[in-house]
Formats: sequence, structure tokens, C-alpha cells
Amino acid sequence: MSNIEEIKKKLKALNAEYAKIKNIALEERKAFGIKLNEKRSELQRELQEAILTEETESIEKIDITAPCAPNQKIPEIKRGSHHPLMMELRRVLSIYSHMGFNIMEAQQLDDEFHMFESLNFPEGHPARDGYDTFRTAEGFIPPAHTSTMQHRALKRYKKDLENGGQIAVVIPGRVFRNEDVDATHEHTFYQCEGVYVGKDTTFAQMLGVLKNFFEAYYGQNLNIKTQPGYFPFTEPSVELLIEKPKTLGGKGDGWLEMLGCGMIHPNVLKMAGINPEKYKGFAWGGGIDRLVMLKYGLNDVRYFESGKLDFLKEF
Ligand code: DAH
Repeated sequence: MSNIEEIKKKLKALNAEYAKIKNIALEERKAFGIKLNEKRSELQRELQEAILTEETESIEKIDITAPCAPNQKIPEIKRGSHHPLMMELRRVLSIYSHMGFNIMEAQQLDDEFHMFESLNFPEGHPARDGYDTFRTAEGFIPPAHTSTMQHRALKRYKKDLENGGQIAVVIPGRVFRNEDVDATHEHTFYQCEGVYVGKDTTFAQMLGVLKNFFEAYYGQNLNIKTQPGYFPFTEPSVELLIEKPKTLGGKGDGWLEMLGCGMIHPNVLKMAGINPEKYKGFAWGGGIDRLVMLKYGLNDVRYFESGKLDFLKEF
């Protein structure tokens, strides 16, 4: 019998003693009761100790200093990997940072001011409809584009302008749209925004920066062209297209729209406390998903958010 059971048995016997109290002469009852109570407390203490001892002894003892058995097979560890979009984003940022751009990270929850007002979309502006996204119960906005960061970038690096330099920032971020999802539309995707402001900034410089970027990313010379676009925060506004590279399946005939860009609207500069008479800038924003899909010949944007391991393991 284990020690625990023995003590339990003694306790049971003791409980039976209590039944005798009523037969004991009145003057002795008190002393008898006190004695029984003392005995019971003692047994209960012993029981607790016995339980603790048994528990401690049952814990498996492991010698953590023991040497590995010489032929012991070390279990194979399944390693995770970076998501293809994050790997490619790293390449994108590396190209821009070699060009001298700073990097800021976009917010995943923003507000009305940064989503619209700071970008020269006054209240009731019809172009707001083009950026249909979600709202949290508290009224925060999961941003529909990374341009929501322009105002913050301008303010944060304004001092570089005042010190005779330029503002040069790229801002990658996750963005959200209230879309019907299909092979080319996702509710959640990634963009990279760029902002450049200096004294004599020109539209031609913008085209040079962007052409350089695409050539570095795809590792080949590319043709680019623009077509008119409209964004309230740039004037003029254009869409930039690249000719589909032959090495990536292009037949010398297709143009692909890669991003929106333009010269920063004077109102956007003014709102960030930058004098548009003195400084000019350009900005652009484009999807990372699209960039990566072209590089790897993917035809369905939904793979990125799907969590499909077969797909992820190919990278
Ligand atoms: N934010 C725009 C969009 O998602 C793209 C864009 C256009 C960004 C022009 C810019 C810009 O910075 O200057 O549709």
C-alpha cells in the first residue's frame, strides 16, 4: 500500500471516532474533540506532503548534460520560408535604396485626413469613389493605396529640403479594396509609393527614375511610355506602361500598365508646409503583386493570399 493510501485509511478511521463523541461524558467531551481535531490536522498535513513527494518523484528525470548518442538521427527540421511577395519587396527596396531613397513603412489603419484631404480630395470629390475600402467599427480606414503616406513623408523629411537637399522616400505597404475578387483583383495587396521633392525637379527626371527602376528589377533594357491619367494629388497625372519584355513572354506588341505617377499637386505640398513656388516634386505608386506576377509569369493574383503551400514552395 502506498503511503498516501495508508494516510487516507487512517483519516477514515479517525472520522469514525467522531461518531463516539455523543457517548462520552459531557465534562470529557471538549478535551476529546480537541484531541481528534489535532490528530486530523496532522494527518491532513502528512497527506499533502505525501502527494507532493509522489508528484515530484514521478517527473521524468532528464540529464541535459548527457552527450548525444553517436549514431542518433537528428530529426529533420521543416523550415519555413519568406513569402514570395516579401522576397521581391526586398529586391524592390534594395534598388530604390541604391538610388538614394529612404524607406518608410505604411500604416495598415489610417484616417480620413490622410486618405483624402491631405491628398487634395476635398469632401464630396467624385474621385473618392475610386478608392472604396473598408472601415473599422471605430471609423479607421484600412488604406486603399499607399499614397495615404505622402503627407507624413513630406513632413518627416521636409528638413532635408531646408538643409539644401531633397526629399526622397519610398513607402511599401499593404492596401485594401472593397473589390469583387478575381484573377486580377484582390481585396488585399501590396503597393510601393515613391515621393521625390527638390528645387528643380522635372517630369523627365521622374521618367528616368522609373525606367531605371524597372530595368534594374527585370534585369534588362525596357521601353516605357505614359498615357494620361487622373489623380487629385498630382498635376499632370499619368499612368506608366512598360513594353512586355520578350524574355518574359512579350511578342513586341504588348504594353502593361505598371503604376500611376505625376508631379505633386501644389496643394499637397502646401498642406505639408512646403512652398510650391520654391520646390517641385513627383510621386508614384504601383502594385507589387503585379510586378511579381509579370516576373514569374503568374496569371492569378489570388495565389498570393491563398496560403497554398504548393505555390509557396516554388519560390
Ligand atoms: N495611389 C494611386 C492608386 O493606387 C497611384 C498613384 C498615382 C500614386 C499617382 C501616386 C501618384 O503617388 O502620384 O491608384
